[in-house]
Amino acid sequence: MTEQRTLRVALLGAGSVGSQVARLLQEHADDFAERSGARLELAGILVRDPDAPRDVPLPRELLTTDAESLILGADIVIELMGGIEPARTHVLAALRSGADVVTGNKALLATHGAEIFELADQVGASVSYEAAVAAAIPIIRPLRDSLAGDRIVRIFGIVNGSTNFILDSMDRQGLSAEEAQRIATELGYLEADPTLDLEGYDAAQKAAILASLAFHTSVEIDDVYREGISDVTADMIEDARRAGSVIKLLAVCERIADAEGEAISVRVYPALISREHPLASVHGGNNAVFVEAEAAGPLMFYGAGAGGVQTASAVLGDVVSAARRHIAGG
Ligand code: HSE
Repeated sequence: MTEQRTLRVALLGAGSVGSQVARLLQEHADDFAERSGARLELAGILVRDPDAPRDVPLPRELLTTDAESLILGADIVIELMGGIEPARTHVLAALRSGADVVTGNKALLATHGAEIFELADQVGASVSYEAAVAAAIPIIRPLRDSLAGDRIVRIFGIVNGSTNFILDSMDRQGLSAEEAQRIATELGYLEADPTLDLEGYDAAQKAAILASLAFHTSVEIDDVYREGISDVTADMIEDARRAGSVIKLLAVCERIADAEGEAISVRVYPALISREHPLASVHGGNNAVFVEAEAAGPLMFYGAGAGGVQTASAVLGDVVSAARRHIAGG
């Protein structure tokens, strides 16, 4: 019997998603080995402060502040630090060392995606990012692979869980925006800087990623029109209710006709949605993404759009795929 290969996995970041990834990788080690054909050894976890208190206990001997050694020894690098730097430097170093990268970092991909994907192509490594958009909902792979033979004309929906939770709690439970935000924070839905959610930056980053994939072009954050929910008041929500509508933070990516033939429009804004529309039934931290493709017609993707363990599911799917790729590549 041949001995099973071991792949070394480096985890960068142990926040609400990273800590769940570490826990699940260890708890389900045998399942991952069976599914990927290799044992996935968690080689280390990059943290800012190894002695900081943590909600999810992590083995102290795995915690390190030495990014360089951790990355250089890894076959697969999972980047869940968020933000641009030092995440960008670490992802580029991982690719240069030949590691496959799994990331949930929408800010990084929406601003430096071109640089990262170009390097990955050059070195023959993969960058997977199912967790970057709509957390647990599989949307990246369907756009990249399943719909690669179709022509997507429009994507629209709710891609930010925390603002959906806040608007929904104001609408259905009459909570104040502050109270709803406090609960969303406790649930781990908000970014470390909540302005990113409330002002629509997070949704705009996700919209840029979706549009780039769907329309086979490079759409960056500066190309996205953006309005957040900070000006949405309880009175507006009440007025919408009386009119049979609900306010949702909508992301729209579409091909539009212009003087030169066709352009891409990507925008994020609070919109009035009829209570009859399926988007009105997207409650709490859930997301829903509608995709319209020429041959396939309309498709709907729905599920948890935020949360540590939900997002970890998407990360781990990418890790298993990267491991299979390693094994197939010899
Ligand atoms: N802050 C993000 C959201 C987390 O609320 O959707 C998931 O990307």
